[in-house]
Amino acid sequence: MQTEFQHMKITFAEAAKADIAAFVADEGAGLPAAAAALDTASGGLITEAVSAGRFDGKPGQHVTVVLPKGLDARRAVVAGGGKPKKRDARAQEAIGANFIKAFAMSGFKTASITAVSAEEAARIAVGAKLASYRFDTYFTKLKPDQKPSLSGLTVVCDDPKAAKAAFAPLDAATDGTYLARDLVNMPPNDLHPESFAEKIKELSALGLDVEVLGEKAMAKLGMHALLGVGQGSVRESQMGIMKWNGGKPGEDPVILVGKGVCFDTGGISLKPGPGMEDMRGDMGGAAAVTGTMRAIAQAKLKVNVVGLVGLVENMPDGNAQRPGDIVKSASGQTIEIQNTDAEGRLVLCDVLWYAQEHYKPKAIVDLATLTGAIVISLGHHHAGLFTNSDDLADELTRAGLAEGERVWRLPMGPEYDSLIKSKFADMRNIGGRAAGSITAAQFLKRFVKDEVRWAHIDIAGTAWVEGEKAPTDPSWASGYGPRLLTRWIADNYE
Ligand code: BES
Ligand code: MN
Ligand code: ZN
Repeated sequence: MQTEFQHMKITFAEAAKADIAAFVADEGAGLPAAAAALDTASGGLITEAVSAGRFDGKPGQHVTVVLPKGLDARRAVVAGGGKPKKRDARAQEAIGANFIKAFAMSGFKTASITAVSAEEAARIAVGAKLASYRFDTYFTKLKPDQKPSLSGLTVVCDDPKAAKAAFAPLDAATDGTYLARDLVNMPPNDLHPESFAEKIKELSALGLDVEVLGEKAMAKLGMHALLGVGQGSVRESQMGIMKWNGGKPGEDPVILVGKGVCFDTGGISLKPGPGMEDMRGDMGGAAAVTGTMRAIAQAKLKVNVVGLVGLVENMPDGNAQRPGDIVKSASGQTIEIQNTDAEGRLVLCDVLWYAQEHYKPKAIVDLATLTGAIVISLGHHHAGLFTNSDDLADELTRAGLAEGERVWRLPMGPEYDSLIKSKFADMRNIGGRAAGSITAAQFLKRFVKDEVRWAHIDIAGTAWVEGEKAPTDPSWASGYGPRLLTRWIADNYE
Protein backbone atom coordinates (compact mmCIF):
# COMPACT_ATOMS: atom_id res chain seq x y z
CA MET A 1 0.00 0.00 0.00
CA GLN A 2 1.17 3.48 -0.58
CA THR A 3 -0.51 6.28 1.23
CA GLU A 4 -1.53 9.02 -1.09
CA PHE A 5 -1.15 11.94 1.22
CA GLN A 6 -2.25 15.12 -0.43
CA HIS A 7 -2.43 13.93 -3.98
CA MET A 8 -4.34 17.17 -4.35
CA LYS A 9 -2.22 20.18 -3.54
CA ILE A 10 -4.01 22.88 -1.58
CA THR A 11 -2.74 26.44 -1.46
CA PHE A 12 -4.02 29.84 -0.31
CA ALA A 13 -3.65 33.07 -2.26
CA GLU A 14 -5.16 36.52 -2.75
CA ALA A 15 -5.91 35.71 -6.37
CA ALA A 16 -5.55 32.69 -8.63
CA LYS A 17 -5.51 31.63 -12.23
CA ALA A 18 -7.08 28.19 -12.55
CA ASP A 19 -9.07 26.06 -15.00
CA ILE A 20 -12.14 26.38 -12.80
CA ALA A 21 -12.88 29.53 -10.81
CA ALA A 22 -15.49 28.82 -8.15
CA PHE A 23 -17.45 31.32 -6.09
CA VAL A 24 -19.78 30.74 -3.16
CA ALA A 25 -23.29 32.15 -3.43
CA ASP A 26 -25.41 32.99 -0.40
CA GLU A 27 -28.81 31.33 -0.64
CA GLY A 28 -31.29 33.49 -2.54
CA ALA A 29 -28.75 36.28 -3.12
CA GLY A 30 -27.94 35.84 -6.81
CA LEU A 31 -24.45 36.62 -8.11
CA PRO A 32 -21.74 36.40 -5.42
CA ALA A 33 -19.82 39.68 -5.12
CA ALA A 34 -16.48 37.92 -5.63
CA ALA A 35 -17.62 36.80 -9.09
CA ALA A 36 -18.48 40.31 -10.29
CA ALA A 37 -15.25 41.01 -12.17
CA LEU A 38 -15.28 37.70 -14.03
CA ASP A 39 -18.99 38.17 -14.71
CA THR A 40 -18.37 41.57 -16.32
CA ALA A 41 -15.46 40.18 -18.33
CA SER A 42 -17.66 37.36 -19.58
CA GLY A 43 -20.41 39.74 -20.64
CA GLY A 44 -22.78 38.77 -17.80
CA LEU A 45 -22.72 35.01 -18.38
CA ILE A 46 -22.45 34.21 -14.66
CA THR A 47 -25.39 36.46 -13.76
CA GLU A 48 -27.38 34.73 -16.46
CA ALA A 49 -26.44 31.29 -15.09
CA VAL A 50 -27.36 31.97 -11.46
CA SER A 51 -30.67 33.54 -12.37
CA ALA A 52 -31.82 30.77 -14.74
CA GLY A 53 -32.89 27.25 -13.77
CA ARG A 54 -33.36 26.12 -10.18
CA PHE A 55 -30.09 27.41 -8.75
CA ASP A 56 -30.73 29.48 -5.66
CA GLY A 57 -27.58 28.96 -3.62
CA LYS A 58 -28.65 25.93 -1.59
CA PRO A 59 -25.82 23.82 -0.15
CA GLY A 60 -24.59 21.27 -2.68
CA GLN A 61 -25.91 23.11 -5.74
CA HIS A 62 -23.51 24.13 -8.51
CA VAL A 63 -23.88 25.96 -11.80
CA THR A 64 -21.11 25.78 -14.35
CA VAL A 65 -20.49 28.53 -16.89
CA VAL A 66 -18.40 28.02 -20.01
CA LEU A 67 -16.28 31.15 -20.25
CA PRO A 68 -15.18 32.80 -23.47
CA LYS A 69 -11.54 32.26 -24.44
CA GLY A 70 -8.96 34.73 -23.15
CA LEU A 71 -10.26 35.00 -19.58
CA ASP A 72 -8.37 33.86 -16.46
CA ALA A 73 -10.43 30.68 -16.13
CA ARG A 74 -12.10 28.29 -18.55
CA ARG A 75 -15.10 27.58 -16.36
CA ALA A 76 -16.80 29.64 -13.70
CA VAL A 77 -18.62 27.65 -11.05
CA VAL A 78 -21.06 29.09 -8.57
CA ALA A 79 -21.44 26.86 -5.54
CA GLY A 80 -24.40 27.03 -3.21
CA GLY A 81 -23.29 28.22 0.21
CA GLY A 82 -26.69 28.18 1.92
CA LYS A 83 -27.72 30.91 4.32
CA PRO A 84 -24.68 32.83 5.59
CA LYS A 85 -26.00 32.71 9.18
CA LYS A 86 -25.97 28.93 9.05
CA ARG A 87 -22.48 28.74 7.58
CA ASP A 88 -20.66 27.11 10.50
CA ALA A 89 -17.43 25.13 10.19
CA ARG A 90 -19.34 22.03 8.98
CA ALA A 91 -21.16 24.01 6.28
CA GLN A 92 -17.89 25.59 5.16
CA GLU A 93 -16.25 22.16 4.94
CA ALA A 94 -19.25 20.94 2.96
CA ILE A 95 -18.65 23.68 0.37
CA GLY A 96 -15.13 22.37 -0.26
CA ALA A 97 -16.25 18.75 -0.13
CA ASN A 98 -19.22 19.17 -2.46
CA PHE A 99 -17.01 21.00 -4.92
CA ILE A 100 -14.51 18.13 -4.97
CA LYS A 101 -17.28 15.58 -5.32
CA ALA A 102 -18.64 17.46 -8.34
CA PHE A 103 -15.40 18.43 -10.08
CA ALA A 104 -12.57 16.07 -9.04
CA MET A 105 -13.21 13.93 -12.13
CA SER A 106 -14.18 16.83 -14.43
CA GLY A 107 -11.09 16.57 -16.59
CA PHE A 108 -9.80 19.94 -15.37
CA LYS A 109 -6.58 20.10 -13.39
CA THR A 110 -6.72 23.23 -11.31
CA ALA A 111 -9.43 25.08 -9.46
CA SER A 112 -9.86 28.04 -7.18
CA ILE A 113 -12.60 28.73 -4.64
CA THR A 114 -13.05 32.21 -3.24
CA ALA A 115 -13.76 32.41 0.51
CA VAL A 116 -14.94 35.39 2.56
CA SER A 117 -12.50 34.97 5.45
CA ALA A 118 -9.30 33.16 6.42
CA GLU A 119 -11.25 30.83 8.74
CA GLU A 120 -13.68 29.97 5.99
CA ALA A 121 -10.80 29.40 3.57
CA ALA A 122 -9.20 26.95 6.00
CA ARG A 123 -12.46 25.04 6.50
CA ILE A 124 -13.17 24.90 2.76
CA ALA A 125 -9.68 23.44 2.36
CA VAL A 126 -10.33 20.85 5.08
CA GLY A 127 -13.57 19.80 3.39
CA ALA A 128 -11.89 19.58 0.01
CA LYS A 129 -9.10 17.49 1.42
CA LEU A 130 -11.38 15.11 3.31
CA ALA A 131 -13.47 14.63 0.15
CA SER A 132 -10.51 13.99 -2.14
CA TYR A 133 -9.41 10.89 -0.22
CA ARG A 134 -9.45 7.72 -2.29
CA PHE A 135 -8.58 4.13 -1.50
CA ASP A 136 -7.96 2.69 -4.94
CA THR A 137 -4.56 1.06 -4.61
CA TYR A 138 -6.07 -2.40 -5.08
CA PHE A 139 -7.66 -1.59 -8.45
CA THR A 140 -5.34 -2.65 -11.24
CA LYS A 141 -7.47 -1.68 -14.22
CA LEU A 142 -8.36 1.96 -13.62
CA LYS A 143 -8.28 3.98 -16.83
CA PRO A 144 -7.00 7.57 -16.65
CA ASP A 145 -10.55 8.88 -16.87
CA GLN A 146 -11.52 6.83 -13.81
CA LYS A 147 -9.01 8.71 -11.71
CA PRO A 148 -9.34 12.28 -10.43
CA SER A 149 -8.07 14.96 -12.78
CA LEU A 150 -8.03 17.78 -10.26
CA SER A 151 -4.58 18.08 -8.74
CA GLY A 152 -4.44 21.61 -7.42
CA LEU A 153 -6.86 23.75 -5.43
CA THR A 154 -6.25 27.35 -4.47
CA VAL A 155 -8.50 28.83 -1.84
CA VAL A 156 -8.64 32.57 -2.45
CA CYS A 157 -9.08 35.00 0.45
CA ASP A 158 -7.92 38.42 1.66
CA ASP A 159 -5.43 37.07 4.16
CA PRO A 160 -3.81 33.91 2.78
CA LYS A 161 -1.18 33.96 5.51
CA ALA A 162 -3.83 33.74 8.21
CA ALA A 163 -5.66 31.04 6.23
CA LYS A 164 -2.49 28.99 5.95
CA ALA A 165 -1.88 29.32 9.70
CA ALA A 166 -5.48 28.32 10.48
CA PHE A 167 -5.22 25.37 8.08
CA ALA A 168 -1.93 23.93 9.40
CA PRO A 169 -3.28 22.16 12.53
CA LEU A 170 -6.46 21.12 10.73
CA ASP A 171 -4.34 19.80 7.89
CA ALA A 172 -2.29 17.73 10.32
CA ALA A 173 -5.49 16.28 11.77
CA THR A 174 -6.82 15.40 8.31
CA ASP A 175 -3.51 13.70 7.49
CA GLY A 176 -4.26 11.66 10.60
CA THR A 177 -7.73 10.97 9.20
CA TYR A 178 -6.17 9.80 5.93
CA LEU A 179 -3.88 7.41 7.78
CA ALA A 180 -6.75 6.08 9.91
CA ARG A 181 -8.84 5.55 6.76
CA ASP A 182 -6.03 3.71 5.00
CA LEU A 183 -5.52 1.41 7.98
CA VAL A 184 -9.23 0.62 8.35
CA ASN A 185 -9.75 0.16 4.61
CA MET A 186 -6.80 -2.17 4.16
CA PRO A 187 -7.60 -5.87 3.74
CA PRO A 188 -6.73 -8.12 6.68
CA ASN A 189 -4.29 -10.26 4.72
CA ASP A 190 -2.12 -7.18 4.25
CA LEU A 191 -2.85 -5.42 7.54
CA HIS A 192 -2.32 -7.84 10.41
CA PRO A 193 -0.68 -7.25 13.78
CA GLU A 194 2.86 -7.49 12.46
CA SER A 195 2.36 -5.27 9.41
CA PHE A 196 0.39 -2.76 11.50
CA ALA A 197 3.37 -2.63 13.86
CA GLU A 198 5.63 -1.95 10.87
CA LYS A 199 3.41 0.96 9.85
CA ILE A 200 3.72 2.35 13.36
CA LYS A 201 7.51 2.11 13.18
CA GLU A 202 7.45 4.23 10.03
CA LEU A 203 6.03 7.08 12.10
CA SER A 204 9.33 7.54 13.88
CA ALA A 205 10.30 9.60 10.83
CA LEU A 206 7.96 12.29 12.17
CA GLY A 207 9.75 12.44 15.50
CA LEU A 208 7.61 9.93 17.38
CA ASP A 209 9.43 7.62 19.74
CA VAL A 210 8.15 4.18 18.71
CA GLU A 211 8.46 0.83 20.43
CA VAL A 212 6.77 -2.49 19.66
CA LEU A 213 6.33 -5.35 22.12
CA GLY A 214 5.85 -8.90 20.88
CA GLU A 215 4.27 -11.88 22.63
CA LYS A 216 7.30 -12.73 24.76
CA ALA A 217 7.52 -9.24 26.20
CA MET A 218 3.77 -9.11 26.81
CA ALA A 219 3.80 -12.52 28.51
CA LYS A 220 6.48 -11.19 30.85
CA LEU A 221 4.12 -8.34 31.72
CA GLY A 222 1.36 -10.86 32.41
CA MET A 223 -0.87 -9.61 29.58
CA HIS A 224 -2.69 -12.93 29.23
CA ALA A 225 -6.08 -11.41 28.49
CA LEU A 226 -4.71 -9.82 25.31
CA LEU A 227 -2.54 -12.82 24.46
CA GLY A 228 -5.49 -15.20 24.83
CA VAL A 229 -7.34 -13.37 22.06
CA GLY A 230 -4.41 -13.71 19.65
CA GLN A 231 -3.45 -17.30 20.47
CA GLY A 232 -5.47 -18.81 17.63
CA SER A 233 -3.72 -16.68 15.02
CA VAL A 234 -0.55 -17.48 13.11
CA ARG A 235 0.27 -13.76 13.38
CA GLU A 236 2.11 -12.67 16.48
CA SER A 237 0.18 -10.28 18.74
CA GLN A 238 1.83 -6.90 19.20
CA MET A 239 1.55 -3.82 21.33
CA GLY A 240 2.55 -0.56 19.68
CA ILE A 241 3.82 2.28 21.85
CA MET A 242 4.06 5.73 20.26
CA LYS A 243 5.40 8.62 22.32
CA TRP A 244 5.26 12.28 21.43
CA ASN A 245 7.39 14.34 23.78
CA GLY A 246 6.32 17.83 22.77
CA GLY A 247 5.69 19.02 26.33
CA LYS A 248 8.01 19.71 29.25
CA PRO A 249 10.41 16.87 30.02
CA GLY A 250 8.95 14.70 32.74
CA GLU A 251 5.47 16.16 32.43
CA ASP A 252 2.76 13.50 32.79
CA PRO A 253 1.29 12.45 29.45
CA VAL A 254 -2.16 12.22 28.01
CA ILE A 255 -2.65 8.59 26.98
CA LEU A 256 -4.62 7.23 24.05
CA VAL A 257 -5.42 3.53 23.87
CA GLY A 258 -6.76 1.75 20.79
CA LYS A 259 -8.38 -1.62 20.10
CA GLY A 260 -6.50 -3.15 17.20
CA VAL A 261 -8.26 -6.39 16.34
CA CYS A 262 -6.95 -6.61 12.79
CA PHE A 263 -9.59 -9.19 12.00
CA ASP A 264 -12.38 -10.39 14.25
CA THR A 265 -13.85 -13.72 13.19
CA GLY A 266 -15.37 -14.03 16.64
CA GLY A 267 -12.97 -16.89 17.34
CA ILE A 268 -14.53 -20.19 18.49
CA SER A 269 -17.74 -18.17 19.13
CA LEU A 270 -17.64 -17.69 15.36
CA LYS A 271 -19.51 -14.81 13.78
CA PRO A 272 -22.03 -15.49 10.99
CA GLY A 273 -20.56 -15.38 7.47
CA PRO A 274 -22.51 -12.55 5.85
CA GLY A 275 -20.86 -9.24 6.62
CA MET A 276 -17.91 -10.78 8.40
CA GLU A 277 -15.60 -9.01 5.96
CA ASP A 278 -16.45 -5.76 7.76
CA MET A 279 -14.44 -7.03 10.70
CA ARG A 280 -11.29 -5.98 8.86
CA GLY A 281 -12.17 -2.62 10.39
CA ASP A 282 -12.10 -3.92 13.94
CA MET A 283 -8.77 -2.17 14.41
CA GLY A 284 -10.51 1.20 13.99
CA GLY A 285 -9.62 2.27 17.52
CA ALA A 286 -5.94 1.54 16.93
CA ALA A 287 -6.17 3.35 13.58
CA ALA A 288 -7.68 6.39 15.32
CA VAL A 289 -4.87 6.43 17.89
CA THR A 290 -2.17 5.95 15.24
CA GLY A 291 -3.66 8.68 13.05
CA THR A 292 -3.85 11.01 16.04
CA MET A 293 -0.22 10.41 16.98
CA ARG A 294 0.74 11.22 13.41
CA ALA A 295 -1.32 14.41 13.54
CA ILE A 296 0.09 15.51 16.89
CA ALA A 297 3.64 14.97 15.67
CA GLN A 298 3.01 16.84 12.45
CA ALA A 299 1.38 19.74 14.31
CA LYS A 300 4.20 19.59 16.88
CA LEU A 301 1.78 20.04 19.77
CA LYS A 302 3.50 21.20 22.96
CA VAL A 303 2.29 18.32 25.06
CA ASN A 304 3.37 14.82 26.03
CA VAL A 305 1.15 12.15 24.55
CA VAL A 306 1.48 8.36 24.54
CA GLY A 307 -0.47 6.23 22.07
CA LEU A 308 -0.85 2.54 22.90
CA VAL A 309 -2.41 0.03 20.54
CA GLY A 310 -3.15 -3.63 21.22
CA LEU A 311 -2.81 -5.51 17.93
CA VAL A 312 -4.22 -9.01 17.61
CA GLU A 313 -6.12 -11.26 15.22
CA ASN A 314 -9.10 -13.15 16.63
CA MET A 315 -9.13 -16.52 14.82
CA PRO A 316 -10.65 -19.96 15.42
CA ASP A 317 -7.94 -22.61 15.50
CA GLY A 318 -6.80 -25.71 17.34
CA ASN A 319 -4.90 -23.42 19.66
CA ALA A 320 -7.64 -20.80 19.96
CA GLN A 321 -9.11 -19.71 23.26
CA ARG A 322 -12.33 -21.50 24.28
CA PRO A 323 -15.52 -20.34 25.94
CA GLY A 324 -15.01 -21.45 29.52
CA ASP A 325 -11.32 -20.58 29.63
CA ILE A 326 -10.23 -18.43 32.54
CA VAL A 327 -7.39 -15.98 31.86
CA LYS A 328 -5.38 -13.85 34.24
CA SER A 329 -5.03 -10.23 33.15
CA ALA A 330 -1.96 -8.07 33.74
CA SER A 331 -3.81 -6.43 36.62
CA GLY A 332 -4.02 -9.81 38.35
CA GLN A 333 -7.81 -10.01 37.98
CA THR A 334 -9.14 -13.19 36.42
CA ILE A 335 -11.68 -13.33 33.60
CA GLU A 336 -13.96 -16.16 32.59
CA ILE A 337 -14.29 -16.17 28.80
CA GLN A 338 -17.92 -16.85 28.05
CA ASN A 339 -17.83 -15.61 24.48
CA THR A 340 -14.61 -15.41 22.47
CA ASP A 341 -16.28 -12.75 20.31
CA ALA A 342 -16.23 -10.28 23.20
CA GLU A 343 -12.50 -9.96 22.60
CA GLY A 344 -11.97 -6.21 22.37
CA ARG A 345 -12.34 -5.65 26.10
CA LEU A 346 -9.79 -8.42 26.73
CA VAL A 347 -7.26 -6.59 24.58
CA LEU A 348 -8.01 -3.19 26.06
CA CYS A 349 -7.92 -4.23 29.71
CA ASP A 350 -4.27 -5.24 29.51
CA VAL A 351 -3.25 -2.17 27.52
CA LEU A 352 -5.13 0.10 29.95
CA TRP A 353 -3.29 -1.56 32.80
CA TYR A 354 0.04 -1.07 31.05
CA ALA A 355 -0.76 2.63 30.67
CA GLN A 356 -1.29 3.07 34.39
CA GLU A 357 1.66 0.92 35.47
CA HIS A 358 4.12 2.81 33.28
CA TYR A 359 2.80 6.38 33.43
CA LYS A 360 0.85 8.78 35.58
CA PRO A 361 -1.65 9.80 32.92
CA LYS A 362 -3.38 13.20 32.98
CA ALA A 363 -6.20 11.36 31.25
CA ILE A 364 -6.68 8.12 29.37
CA VAL A 365 -9.02 7.91 26.41
CA ASP A 366 -9.54 4.55 24.78
CA LEU A 367 -11.20 4.06 21.41
CA ALA A 368 -12.65 0.77 20.22
CA THR A 369 -15.09 -0.76 17.77
CA LEU A 370 -16.30 -2.55 20.83
CA THR A 371 -19.98 -3.44 20.56
CA GLY A 372 -22.63 -3.96 17.90
CA ALA A 373 -25.03 -2.64 20.55
CA ILE A 374 -23.67 0.91 20.21
CA VAL A 375 -24.74 0.89 16.54
CA ILE A 376 -28.26 0.06 17.70
CA SER A 377 -28.19 2.82 20.33
CA LEU A 378 -26.62 5.69 18.40
CA GLY A 379 -26.43 4.66 14.76
CA HIS A 380 -23.59 6.14 12.75
CA HIS A 381 -23.52 9.80 13.74
CA HIS A 382 -22.31 9.78 17.33
CA ALA A 383 -19.78 7.56 19.02
CA GLY A 384 -20.68 6.30 22.48
CA LEU A 385 -18.88 8.02 25.34
CA PHE A 386 -18.41 6.44 28.76
CA THR A 387 -16.37 8.19 31.43
CA ASN A 388 -15.72 8.52 35.14
CA SER A 389 -15.21 12.29 34.78
CA ASP A 390 -17.83 14.93 34.01
CA ASP A 391 -15.05 17.33 32.97
CA LEU A 392 -13.67 14.85 30.49
CA ALA A 393 -17.17 14.29 29.12
CA ASP A 394 -17.50 18.01 28.61
CA GLU A 395 -14.08 18.39 26.96
CA LEU A 396 -14.64 15.53 24.54
CA THR A 397 -18.18 16.57 23.71
CA ARG A 398 -17.00 20.08 22.83
CA ALA A 399 -14.05 18.87 20.75
CA GLY A 400 -16.32 16.51 18.87
CA LEU A 401 -18.78 19.26 18.06
CA ALA A 402 -15.98 21.58 16.96
CA GLU A 403 -14.54 19.06 14.49
CA GLY A 404 -17.63 17.15 13.44
CA GLU A 405 -16.69 13.86 15.12
CA ARG A 406 -19.40 13.75 17.73
CA VAL A 407 -19.72 11.73 20.92
CA TRP A 408 -22.77 11.08 23.09
CA ARG A 409 -22.43 10.13 26.71
CA LEU A 410 -24.10 7.02 28.07
CA PRO A 411 -24.50 6.08 31.71
CA MET A 412 -22.44 3.77 33.89
CA GLY A 413 -23.11 2.48 37.39
CA PRO A 414 -22.79 -0.38 39.87
CA GLU A 415 -26.07 -1.98 38.76
CA TYR A 416 -24.54 -2.52 35.33
CA ASP A 417 -21.29 -3.71 36.84
CA SER A 418 -23.07 -6.54 38.64
CA LEU A 419 -24.10 -7.96 35.23
CA ILE A 420 -20.54 -9.16 34.57
CA LYS A 421 -20.21 -11.27 37.73
CA SER A 422 -18.87 -14.78 37.11
CA LYS A 423 -19.43 -17.98 39.05
CA PHE A 424 -15.86 -19.07 38.43
CA ALA A 425 -13.63 -15.99 38.24
CA ASP A 426 -13.42 -12.31 39.20
CA MET A 427 -15.61 -11.43 36.22
CA ARG A 428 -16.91 -12.77 32.91
CA ASN A 429 -16.32 -11.12 29.55
CA ILE A 430 -19.98 -10.62 28.61
CA GLY A 431 -23.10 -9.32 30.31
CA GLY A 432 -26.56 -10.40 29.25
CA ARG A 433 -28.49 -9.12 26.25
CA ALA A 434 -29.31 -5.86 27.98
CA ALA A 435 -27.12 -2.74 27.80
CA GLY A 436 -24.33 -4.46 25.87
CA SER A 437 -22.27 -1.30 25.33
CA ILE A 438 -22.53 -0.30 28.97
CA THR A 439 -21.52 -3.70 30.36
CA ALA A 440 -18.51 -3.58 28.03
CA ALA A 441 -17.59 -0.17 29.47
CA GLN A 442 -18.11 -1.48 33.02
CA PHE A 443 -15.70 -4.30 32.21
CA LEU A 444 -13.04 -1.78 31.16
CA LYS A 445 -13.66 0.34 34.23
CA ARG A 446 -12.54 -2.56 36.42
CA PHE A 447 -9.06 -2.01 34.97
CA VAL A 448 -8.97 1.74 35.57
CA LYS A 449 -7.78 3.03 38.94
CA ASP A 450 -10.37 5.25 40.65
CA GLU A 451 -8.16 8.33 40.65
CA VAL A 452 -7.44 8.16 36.91
CA ARG A 453 -9.54 10.35 34.60
CA TRP A 454 -10.65 7.93 31.92
CA ALA A 455 -13.00 7.88 28.95
CA HIS A 456 -13.97 5.05 26.65
CA ILE A 457 -15.30 5.85 23.19
CA ASP A 458 -17.16 3.06 21.40
CA ILE A 459 -16.72 3.75 17.68
CA ALA A 460 -18.33 0.59 16.29
CA GLY A 461 -20.96 2.77 14.58
CA THR A 462 -18.67 5.53 13.35
CA ALA A 463 -15.42 3.90 12.19
CA TRP A 464 -17.06 2.91 8.94
CA VAL A 465 -20.47 3.75 7.55
CA GLU A 466 -22.43 2.03 4.80
CA GLY A 467 -24.95 3.78 2.60
CA GLU A 468 -25.38 7.47 1.97
CA LYS A 469 -22.67 9.58 3.54
CA ALA A 470 -21.43 13.12 3.82
CA PRO A 471 -19.15 14.25 0.97
CA THR A 472 -16.35 14.69 3.54
CA ASP A 473 -16.53 10.93 4.14
CA PRO A 474 -15.97 9.38 0.69
CA SER A 475 -14.58 5.94 1.49
CA TRP A 476 -15.85 2.96 3.47
CA ALA A 477 -13.65 3.87 6.42
CA SER A 478 -14.49 7.25 7.91
CA GLY A 479 -11.17 7.71 9.69
CA TYR A 480 -13.08 8.72 12.82
CA GLY A 481 -10.92 9.86 15.72
CA PRO A 482 -7.89 11.98 14.84
CA ARG A 483 -9.87 15.18 14.34
CA LEU A 484 -11.69 14.73 17.65
CA LEU A 485 -8.62 13.74 19.66
CA THR A 486 -6.19 16.27 18.19
CA ARG A 487 -8.65 19.04 18.92
CA TRP A 488 -9.33 17.71 22.43
CA ILE A 489 -5.63 17.60 23.26
CA ALA A 490 -4.82 20.97 21.70
CA ASP A 491 -7.71 22.72 23.47
CA ASN A 492 -7.22 21.18 26.92
CA TYR A 493 -3.66 19.95 27.42
CA GLU A 494 -1.28 22.04 25.30
N1 BES B 1 -15.94 -6.08 16.90
C1 BES B 1 -17.16 -6.45 17.48
C2 BES B 1 -18.15 -5.28 17.61
C3 BES B 1 -18.67 -4.69 16.34
C4 BES B 1 -19.88 -5.09 15.83
C5 BES B 1 -18.00 -3.69 15.70
C6 BES B 1 -20.39 -4.52 14.68
C7 BES B 1 -18.50 -3.10 14.56
C8 BES B 1 -19.70 -3.52 14.06
C9 BES B 1 -16.92 -7.00 18.88
O1 BES B 1 -15.73 -7.65 19.06
C10 BES B 1 -18.00 -8.00 19.14
O2 BES B 1 -18.01 -8.98 18.48
N2 BES B 1 -18.86 -7.69 20.09
C11 BES B 1 -19.95 -8.53 20.42
C12 BES B 1 -20.02 -8.60 21.93
C13 BES B 1 -20.94 -9.66 22.43
C14 BES B 1 -20.39 -11.03 22.12
C15 BES B 1 -21.09 -9.47 23.92
C16 BES B 1 -21.21 -7.92 19.83
O3 BES B 1 -21.32 -6.71 19.78
O4 BES B 1 -22.06 -8.70 19.39
MN1 MN C 1 -15.82 -9.69 18.54
ZN1 ZN D 1 -14.18 -7.08 17.86
